Amino acid sequence: MVEFREIGVIRTPHTDVSDMPIQPAGAEGVKGSVEVHPEFVEGLRDLDGFSHVILVYHLHEVRETRLTVTPFMDTERRGVFATRAPVRPNPIGISTVRLDGVRGSTLDVDGVDMLDGTPLLDIKPYVPDADERKDVRVGWLAGASERWKRKRSDGRFG
Ligand SMILES: C[S@@+](CC[C@H](N)C(=O)[O-])C[C@H]1O[C@@H](n2cnc3c(N)ncnc32)[C@H](O)[C@@H]1O
Repeated sequence: MVEFREIGVIRTPHTDVSDMPIQPAGAEGVKGSVEVHPEFVEGLRDLDGFSHVILVYHLHEVRETRLTVTPFMDTERRGVFATRAPVRPNPIGISTVRLDGVRGSTLDVDGVDMLDGTPLLDIKPYVPDADERKDVRVGWLAGASERWKRKRSDGRFG
């Protein structure tokens, strides 16, 4: 077993796993905040110079594991590791969001696709030189880039 400490809580307008964005690409303009627990606030030093951060979090309302899923973006079954579905063996989510500002222990962010109250595990600055890739293949998601933005979740993952 591996244990992680919650370093904060993510606040968003989303209170139900259904009918909410499925990725930050579909959550542009959806504001949230990240409340970092006091013992970790020193670690926020210098973060305000970055326009985007990667939030790593526990998808805490997941109640089951599935190894194959019919993802939100498809009608066919896919291996869970070939999807971004929440019902994973380790229900960890990642979202790259715009950092609007840092106010003490609070980060104001834009593009939230997680439930209100989601436990935060880590924050990393988004750095194109480290994170951007060229010559990318996107498997079964080829041609779906516009649909990411419109697609909303439903109740299929509980
Ligand atoms: C498809 S997942 C993608 C999450 C993240 N962007 C990723 O790729 O790892 C997003 C969906 O998971 C569900 N969800 C969001 N926050 C959750 C939470 N804290 N616990 C359980 N399910 C959650 C919602 O249905 C939401 O639309």
